[in-house]
Amino acid sequence: MSEFYDRMASLYHLIFQDWDDSIERQAGQLTSIIEERWGTGCRSILDVSCGIGTQAIGLAKRGVAVSASDASEGAIARAKAEAQRRGVEIDFSVCDMREAYAHHRRQFDVVISCDNSITHLLNDSDLLLALQQIYDCTRPGGGCLLTVRDYDREERGTGLIKPYCVREEDGKRYVIFQVWDFVGQIYDMAMYFVADDRSSETLVTHVMRTKYNAVGTDHLLTLMRKAGFTKTERLDGRFYQPVLVGNREA
Ligand SMILES: C[S@@+](CC[C@H](N)C(=O)[O-])C[C@H]1O[C@@H](n2cnc3c(N)ncnc32)[C@H](O)[C@@H]1O
Repeated sequence: MSEFYDRMASLYHLIFQDWDDSIERQAGQLTSIIEERWGTGCRSILDVSCGIGTQAIGLAKRGVAVSASDASEGAIARAKAEAQRRGVEIDFSVCDMREAYAHHRRQFDVVISCDNSITHLLNDSDLLLALQQIYDCTRPGGGCLLTVRDYDREERGTGLIKPYCVREEDGKRYVIFQVWDFVGQIYDMAMYFVADDRSSETLVTHVMRTKYNAVGTDHLLTLMRKAGFTKTERLDGRFYQPVLVGNREA
C-alpha cells in the first residue's frame, strides 16, 4: 500500500478539480463538525493518514496545532513541501496508524483519518488495532473523526470501472479512472493516470495498484465502540463522503 501512495504522491492533487480549493473547503467542513461536536476550544489535531496534506494543511491554516503522519514516505515528503510552500507549520512524520500511539506518545483534542484511508486495513483485527491506537491518542473529552466511502452503495464484481476526471496541467491532459476487482469483501484497485501531451500518438499511463476493504459504516461504528469510543454516529451531507464520529468520555 505504501508503494502505491509513494508513486502517486506527485499526481495525487490531480484527483481534485482544484486542490487548493479542496484544502480550504474541506477544512471548513471539518471545522464545522469539530466545533459542533467538541466545541470551539479544540486546539490540537492529529491526522493519522494525512497523505499529501489535504486536510492537515487546511486545518493548520486555520490556526490549529496539527500533527500529521502517514505510512507513505513519499506522501509525507510532498506534504512537507506543500506546507512549507504555504508557510504552514505542521509536525509531520511517517507512521502506520496501527502504531499511532506508540509513535506519537501523546493525546490530541481530535484525531482524524479522512478520504477512506482506514479501509486500507484488510481485516477486523487491524481495523480495531488502528482504532484503539487512535483512541489512545485522543484526550478524554475529545474525539475521533473518520471519513469513508459508502460501500453499502457500491456494486460488487470484477472489472468495475470508476471514471474519475479529466485534468489539464502543464500542457498535458490527464484522464483518470480506477478499475476494481472484488474477491469477497476485499477488492484490488488499479488507479490509472493516462497522460496525453497532445503532440504525439503515444500516451504515457501510470498505473498504481492497491487493495481496499469494502467495510460498511455500521461495522466501522461497531469497531469504534469496541475501541472505546462512545456516542458514535454517522453524519451524511457534511463532507464528500460519510463522516463517522465518536467521543472519548471525559
Ligand atoms: C486516499 S489517501 C488520503 C490522503 C490524505 N487524506 C489527503 O487527502 O491528502 C489514503 C492515505 O492513507 C494512507 N494510509 C493507508 N494505510 C495506512 C496506514 N495503515 N497507516 C497510515 N497511513 C495509511 C496512505 O498512505 C494514503 O496517504
